[in-house]
Amino acid sequence: MESQHEEIRNLSARFADDVVAPLAHEIDRRGEIPDSIIKSVAESGFFGIFIPEEYGGAAMDYTSYAIIMEEISRACASTSVVITGHNSLCVWPIMHFGTPEQKKTHLPPMASGEKLGCFCLSEPGAGSDAGSLTTFAKEEGDFFEISGTKNFITNGKEAKLAIVMAKTQKSPDYRSITAFIVDMTSKGITVNKLEDKLGLKGSSTAQIHFDKVRVPKENLLGERERGFRVAMATLDGGRIGVAAQALGIAEAAFRYAKGYSKQRVQFGAPISNLQAVQFMLADMSTKIAASRLLILEASRLKDRGEKYTKEAAQAKLFASEASAFVTHKAIQVLGGCGYIKEYPVERHFRDARITEIYEGTSEIQRLVIAAQELKG
Ligand code: CAA
Repeated sequence: MESQHEEIRNLSARFADDVVAPLAHEIDRRGEIPDSIIKSVAESGFFGIFIPEEYGGAAMDYTSYAIIMEEISRACASTSVVITGHNSLCVWPIMHFGTPEQKKTHLPPMASGEKLGCFCLSEPGAGSDAGSLTTFAKEEGDFFEISGTKNFITNGKEAKLAIVMAKTQKSPDYRSITAFIVDMTSKGITVNKLEDKLGLKGSSTAQIHFDKVRVPKENLLGERERGFRVAMATLDGGRIGVAAQALGIAEAAFRYAKGYSKQRVQFGAPISNLQAVQFMLADMSTKIAASRLLILEASRLKDRGEKYTKEAAQAKLFASEASAFVTHKAIQVLGGCGYIKEYPVERHFRDARITEIYEGTSEIQRLVIAAQELKG
């Protein structure tokens, strides 16, 4: 790894250990992230990791982003999902598909953390089948009027800005989807409900209703009726972020289980002397190492401007399933202690599970990988 990336790892690890980790248990227990953490994330530039300097960002590459995500997720996955939801799913599409005017308007307040972003694709009736969404944007002079309901929106409660996918033609075809940049303080937007989840307790997941929300035409993102491509390209990058999150959670669980195994004495010796425990640690360590390499490869391709759809899906598929495995085994190493909230591994186990589901389930990743392998 290049020295610049090692430096970023050291800096973000220090931030994770000193600022975030001490509060992670409380964040999970109370189901909210203190404002002080969000303020520190903003001050550290983590809301504008890859935003160019001219818009107030840190102008880092995607590899740096993945490293930062891994380290913060190691401390607290609730905090890291706020950062990934914002950066991967809202900042990135504006950077990539936005007009110069849209970038000038929206990126600076996102880089500073003044405006948190979210991504509104899924709906009650459109999850894996994202193209079947029914939210509609009706053209009305200089505006579009958006109506519909969006489901499972990360940062949905706090977001001030959203990328919203809506159809601009009454058609079941994904080719009628258009992407919009939506001011979430607009009239007609309501949070229907906040989900009570298995893990990621500190981050908000909202169902959001749009009732004739007026969006100026200049907020159309990318080409009209090419919004599905905007969504898919955004998710390619997002999947690297989720993979890094899964890796960070796995690393945390592994480190804890390894340390515990050296302290815990049974049958007259530390349990790390037992081959049964060693084999678990070996498998955990190997899956973590492989996840990291896949993530670095996908990020490297993205940084070079090469195609990375398959590699991002592979990284997410492997790292999320590895994270589920590692956190499961971490509980096994701790035995009864692993199952109680006094020890962090049960939190890691709950937090890891969603990485196999959001931004495309493992089954969708397999479809994407197979499609990339088979085409041409
Ligand atoms: N980049 C750019 N464009 C892409 C693309 C990519 N990676 N993949 C596909 N496309 C384009 C194709 O070129 C095609 O466009 P054209 O017709 O204009 O050429 C169009 O998209 C359709 O492509 P496919 O026929 O390959 O798509 P499909 O219908 O066979 O499969 C799917 C689509 C892979 C199943 C897709 O629907 C999918 O990824 N579903 C999962 C959705 C998902 O991940 N949801 C998570 C929501 S986000 C979230 O979790 C919320 C949060 O807040 C965390």
